[in-house]
Amino acid sequence: MVLAFRNITFYAVTVIAPDENPNTDGIHIGRSNGVTITNSNIGNGDDCISLGDGSQKVTVENVNYGPGHRISVGSLGKLTTEENVADLIVKNCTLTKTENGVRIKTWPDGQGKITITDMHFEDITMVDVMNPIIIDQEYCPWNKCSKKNPSQIKISKVTFKNIKGTSGTIEGVTIICSSGVPCEGVQIQL
Ligand SMILES: *[C@@H]1O[C@H](CO)[C@@H](O)[C@H](O)[C@H]1NC(C)=O
Ligand SMILES: *[C@@H]1O[C@H](CO)[C@@H](O)[C@H](O)[C@H]1NC(C)=O
Repeated sequence: MVLAFRNITFYAVTVIAPDENPNTDGIHIGRSNGVTITNSNIGNGDDCISLGDGSQKVTVENVNYGPGHRISVGSLGKLTTEENVADLIVKNCTLTKTENGVRIKTWPDGQGKITITDMHFEDITMVDVMNPIIIDQEYCPWNKCSKKNPSQIKISKVTFKNIKGTSGTIEGVTIICSSGVPCEGVQIQL
């Protein structure tokens, strides 16, 4: 858990927890500016790396993940107290047998109006990943919210570049943007 940090670097860390262990985030980042995670191995039961609100300037490079769920931004947009998320770079990483690959998710019907901008994913290898690329602005697990009102979170400048490997499902890419504030500048370059 990295909360309210400025300029912190994780170098060569190993986070291992059994994959049947629910809700053990590998590294959760929130309200922090300047977080670097490099040359590390992360495997656990839930999100390998997750970015909560207020995460800014986060760099993840040369990291191996798996087992676990994903590299995740969100879920965001439920509360008005949330802060913007900006400048994520994920580069040269391998995800092995994770449930999702990289995912950005926001709640429909939420109060939050923050922006999520400059999210860049580059040179990523996925090995047997169920859902490699997901943007989901109608994230509503167990139908605990209403999809009637669209998410008010604006997502912009997201790039997926040179992402390769094997998907466990037919749909390798799922992009569901908000009908209220549509995504802008989403690029996929395989
Ligand atoms: C964090 O690093 C950035 C870039 O190197 C620098 O401009 C900034 O002053 C640093 N912030 C703190 C609180 O050290
Ligand atoms: C990519 O990451 C791996 C470790 O996962 C490292 O061995 C390799 O040198 C990195 N490649 C580059 C170009 O940085």
